[in-house]
Amino acid sequence: MEYLLIKGGKKLKGRLSVEGAKNSVLPVLAAAILNSSNKGIWLSNIPRLNDVKIMYSILQELGVEVKDKETKAYLDTTGINRHSIPEHLMRKMRSSIFLMGPLLGRLGRACVSHPGGCSIGARPIDLHLKGLNKMGVKITEKQGSIEASGFPRAADIHLDYPSVGATENLVMAASLARGKTVIRNAAREPEIVDLQNFLNAMGAKISGAGTEAIKIKGVESLSGVDYEVIPDRIVAGTYLIAAAATGGEVLLENVIPRHLEALSAKLKEAGVNIETGDDYISLNGGGSMPVEVRTYPYPGFSTDLQPPMLSFLTRLDGVSRVIENVFESRFRHVEELCKMGASIERKGRMALVRGGARLTGALVEAGDLRAAAALVVAGLAAEGETRVHGLFHLDRGYEKMEEKLRQLDACIERCVVSNAEYRRWSS
Ligand code: EPZ
Repeated sequence: MEYLLIKGGKKLKGRLSVEGAKNSVLPVLAAAILNSSNKGIWLSNIPRLNDVKIMYSILQELGVEVKDKETKAYLDTTGINRHSIPEHLMRKMRSSIFLMGPLLGRLGRACVSHPGGCSIGARPIDLHLKGLNKMGVKITEKQGSIEASGFPRAADIHLDYPSVGATENLVMAASLARGKTVIRNAAREPEIVDLQNFLNAMGAKISGAGTEAIKIKGVESLSGVDYEVIPDRIVAGTYLIAAAATGGEVLLENVIPRHLEALSAKLKEAGVNIETGDDYISLNGGGSMPVEVRTYPYPGFSTDLQPPMLSFLTRLDGVSRVIENVFESRFRHVEELCKMGASIERKGRMALVRGGARLTGALVEAGDLRAAAALVVAGLAAEGETRVHGLFHLDRGYEKMEEKLRQLDACIERCVVSNAEYRRWSS
């Protein structure tokens, strides 16, 4: 069993280039299915993550030829001959649900299973299914599997909530639907703009991504293209927060500062020095002023940065407050942080963080991807040794995190322990 051994209390310092965005490359890989031409697709700036490998396996199951070249990939989508995704792959990753849109657009059929929730909430897919239904797709659900049939037709759709995945699914479903589709109250995340740009590069006619109304004029077909995925704003934000939590001085390259405005503003409010350029952000020193963090859909403060940010808040003076407005149970990291000496009181979707606590190293276990990141941030700031377990979660969203943090002078390594030894430790 792997774990990260962190000797905390050291200031992070140095410069780091940020990898491509997981939450952009996953929908882009799904959208590749819409390419029926003989011209293949070259993607670049791909992060080396487990979730990307799972998406490759799903595409190969559908008949796509995938050449994995680490941070690049070549996709030949001419041979797509299946429309159903095996349950064992669907279960591995929630994102698989937005394969419905492109499968329906390309083949007029899709068979998926409910992706299930994970520890951050129920994560229903009602908005996805309601939107596809509005586009004339026939959907039947039985024993956890979802059969969808019919080529999507243009429609005017109003989302009850600006769901990222539902917006992406419906944009992809509408790309080949004759006529004009409008998605209102759409999610505005940068990853949706990236998806629009990728689809338009393939010949789609989409506008409005990044605003609350996205317009899609269906086209006959799409063609292969070379495309570079945007940098990962959540990974960048996590490293900025880690630097602030250790009072360090770092410069992150290959970032889009505009995508991190909510975080930068909040860190500045806490007293951290931040400067930005066209494609870099530099951070110097820790913070001291308590703040209130409320998560919202983009351009609000990202829910994915809430867990690592909460670790940072333990380093401030006074009492800070976190309100998680996006997912109903995204505080699993709180219990583990309290094992490290943090003083955090949870009340439903709110957490009160009493700052000034000296964090001390402990053996902690992550229950989801961003909780794992929060525990690493806390370990870097804590006095003494921290062992972070649950790296399966961490590796889904952060490329070789320990190597990247060592570039910033952290004292961290990936170790292995037998299950028996681990049980002895944690008893
Ligand atoms: C995407 O998930 C991201 N995942 C998540 O990142 C991110 O936290 C989330 O957007 C919000 O920004 C990917 O892009 C692969 P939503 P998604 O649909 O699409 C409710 C990470 O750590 N909802 O915007 O699943 C839902 O329950 C992951 O990288 C419905 O009610 O998020 C939640 O409360 C975690 N019905 C809220 O909307 C639906 O049909 C936001 O969900 C869909 C969603």
